[in-house]
Amino acid sequence: MRIDFTVAATLRVAGVALLLLALAVLTACRQDMHDQPKYIPLRPSEFFTDGRSARPIPEGTVARGHLNEDTLFYTGKGPDGKPADTFPFPVTREIILRGQQRFNIYCTPCHDRTGSGEGMIVRRGYRRPPTYHSDRLRHVTNGYLYDVITNGFGAMPDYAAQIPPADRWAIVSYVRALQLSQQAPLNELPAAARSQLPPSSRVVISPAIRQEGGAK
Ligand code: HEC
Repeated sequence: MRIDFTVAATLRVAGVALLLLALAVLTACRQDMHDQPKYIPLRPSEFFTDGRSARPIPEGTVARGHLNEDTLFYTGKGPDGKPADTFPFPVTREIILRGQQRFNIYCTPCHDRTGSGEGMIVRRGYRRPPTYHSDRLRHVTNGYLYDVITNGFGAMPDYAAQIPPADRWAIVSYVRALQLSQQAPLNELPAAARSQLPPSSRVVISPAIRQEGGAK
């Protein structure tokens, strides 16, 4: 017992001495990394003949994660350069629900929750967008809707910065769902849903459709 104790004490003294030595050595040989030779952005250089430290990017270089090879996904355009009428990925229930959530955040202030164009800021004086339920907008392609979100349209600002491509497509799928919700042919409804409709709504065209086109 006693011997053990002495050994432990000796080791401790040795440890402290080592630590002090290490500190002394480290202080003496401090690495001045903040003084290292390096170029800060746009600083001139005598090393390269063009006098610039920044080297030109080799032709064809693509930043990691920015290949954007899938033209349909990123631009909404097909191989012919025209807005495509397909989706770049299969549309599932999850995607439509995601689209609904994004639509309600980003689009309803102007287009309102049904897409008829009566959003809150429109009621307070912003230019009234056309309803989505006009014949014209029901027949535009998915790629066209994607393009409107990406690049804006007339008085409508673009949402490229706020909404990433996958969410733009999700919103497009939801706009399609909204359009269907106002125009579904009666015979395409499941029988159970059909019987829930009040008799009058089976013949009356929804008010949203009558506001064709909105203020243009
Ligand atoms: C700040 C208000 C505002 C927001 C938010 C907004 N829009 Fe619009 N949108 C407009 C206006 C205004 C127009 C009509 C522009 C014009 O004709 O000059 C329009 C037009 C449109 C059109 C019709 C284009 C055409 O061919 O007539 C579509 C489709 C559309 N918006 C989709 C969207 C979607 C999807 C979102 C959400 C990502 C959105 N908008 C968000 C104001 C808005």
